Amino acid sequence: MSAAGIQKRLTPARILAMKGGKPIVCLTAYTTPMARLLDEHCDLLLVGDSLGMVLYGMENTIGVTLEMMIAHGKAVMRGVSKACVVVDMPFGSYQESKEVAFRNAVRTLQETGCDAVKLEGGEEMAETIAFLTKRGVPVMGHIGLMPQQVQTAGGYRSVGHSEHETSKIRRDAHAIGGSGAFAVVIEGTVEPLAREVTAAMHIPSIGIGASSACDGQVLVSDDILGLFNDFTPRFVKRYDELGKRVAEAAAAYAAEVRSRKFPAAEHTFKRRP
Ligand code: KIV
Repeated sequence: MSAAGIQKRLTPARILAMKGGKPIVCLTAYTTPMARLLDEHCDLLLVGDSLGMVLYGMENTIGVTLEMMIAHGKAVMRGVSKACVVVDMPFGSYQESKEVAFRNAVRTLQETGCDAVKLEGGEEMAETIAFLTKRGVPVMGHIGLMPQQVQTAGGYRSVGHSEHETSKIRRDAHAIGGSGAFAVVIEGTVEPLAREVTAAMHIPSIGIGASSACDGQVLVSDDILGLFNDFTPRFVKRYDELGKRVAEAAAAYAAEVRSRKFPAAEHTFKRRP
């Protein structure tokens, strides 16, 4: 990548400076072609560990490995020239200790060339995030509903309903806001609480199922495109039904192959005279 290319891409520092301004636009991307299509429309591209479900058919994100994240991070980096790219640290790659988190975060930055890593967790991860950011690793936090904790949390459900959850999320936002993270994803959290913690933090909140009160929004690209149909959370808006169109195109191709309509003369090599 050229020096000019590096200067043109949005940096974590510029994302931080967008706090309270125009809403920050973020989508997930896992591959080069998708990154190329989304890049000019997004401020942030997230190589989310949701790829475990979306691309690999896993039931949740627990089985996603660092090697998978690095491979997809590299692929996305080949397709971007403008957006800031954040790669998710998968389950088990950062919880053991801040030293392990640092080693794996550095590996992710060095091997992919991405701009930052994201890790899930509130007050319990604040010390780790501070350890990373003080040593040069830009970090995005992730609080509220945390998919990597789905097995201990008892499933995917919105949070912030009870007094207990509310005070935990307040403490989490306070801790991550002060940890050196440049932004924080707030997932599946009731509106008044997402609004309150967004106003209280000096870093941008990127909401997913956390209302329009957040400083930005993120969704899974395959969800908005209608490519992932296994499960559609209430907070997803579908902007297209590409899944149906893929199936229709495959059916048309199959019919033409079976009827020998494809390949036609224009798809066939003739011997040169
Ligand atoms: O893995 C992911 O895609 C995410 C977003 C949905 C926030 O963490």
